Amino acid sequence: MTAQTFHILCLPGDGVGPEVIHEARQTLDLIASSRPVEFVWSEAAFGGAAIDAHGVPLRDEDADLAANSDSVLLGAVGGPKWENVAPEIRPEAGLLGLRQRLGLFANLRPIKVLEALVDASPMKAEIVRGTDLLIVRELTGGIYFGKPSEQMETSEGRSAVDTLVYSEIEIQRLIDLGFELAKGRRNKVTSVDKANVMASSRLWRTIANEVAERHPDTQLEHALVDSCAMRLLLRPTDYDVMVMENMFGDILSDEAAVLAGSLGMLPSASLSGRKPIREGTSAVQFGMYEPIHGSAPDIAGQNKANPCGAILSAAMMLRISFGLDGEANAIESAINATLEDGIRTADLPLPGSQPVGTTEFGDKVRAHLGRVLGS
Ligand code: IPM
Ligand code: MG
Repeated sequence: MTAQTFHILCLPGDGVGPEVIHEARQTLDLIASSRPVEFVWSEAAFGGAAIDAHGVPLRDEDADLAANSDSVLLGAVGGPKWENVAPEIRPEAGLLGLRQRLGLFANLRPIKVLEALVDASPMKAEIVRGTDLLIVRELTGGIYFGKPSEQMETSEGRSAVDTLVYSEIEIQRLIDLGFELAKGRRNKVTSVDKANVMASSRLWRTIANEVAERHPDTQLEHALVDSCAMRLLLRPTDYDVMVMENMFGDILSDEAAVLAGSLGMLPSASLSGRKPIREGTSAVQFGMYEPIHGSAPDIAGQNKANPCGAILSAAMMLRISFGLDGEANAIESAINATLEDGIRTADLPLPGSQPVGTTEFGDKVRAHLGRVLGS
């Protein structure tokens, strides 16, 4: 059988980014060694690493490389070293620019509390057990990108403005995707807004209702973001798919991460809905995949980071961009089995057992994966 070939651009980034990405990449290479698939890797500096090497967080030619790949695997960007660089070349500006350049309007952040980690959450086990929700965050609009966004001098002193603007098209395509995703799950969509105060939220709610009419089998509920933030910690199992604008999603997804025990556990996918443009590719959909956690400069270079978020992001890539569901499931089972064995990185302490390092955890996952793939 001829191998399907997929081109992946790897952007390891800063801090622990390169360490966790190394584990994800090894895991994908193990898949390639036992299945008729081939991954062709390229790599570019991103974020602070690119500022150091090239003076900008992402070179144009590397952004082009990303657009021409079948998918992108990203570590994390930023760190105290680049805190004082000009705002337009900050590592974060590179990330926002790349999201926009690639048209990645939908950010999928699944929060699943694994049975093996129920006790690792700082929340009570009876609250978090069974949590399985999917945050679908709008990623290329809203207050992150609205103009004007600036600070100015006025006769009354300094003043600053940010602008929250959404078009109908931006809202509709995101909510549509949320409804599509709910079909493969428990068929419930929670639309999060602040419609009691904000005009953009009132439009959001109107459009959510319109989209819901086209999906009569899916339940839609509206939730105000403030009370939703509370219910997310009190009754997280109430939620299935949650759709929301950019900044609400930024905030609620970090909050929801607490449920899973550690930010280090969580993967994400950012999608544009477009097919890859590389000629002859068998990939079904372009995407950028990254763990939710940041660059964690305090533990960088110490082999301490949890590689689960990155490895699970690789699994999302296999499923969503390459249509390799079986292989994605195999990775997820291998992570599960490793955690069930009581093997954990330092962010998930287990009383009476020593944490393992990033590379050791990755090796254990691949040992399980090798068995799953071999059988
Ligand atoms: C995230 C991050 C980014 C965001 C930062 C690094 C720009 O917090 O992916 O959630 O705010 O979107
Ligand atoms: Mg964030």
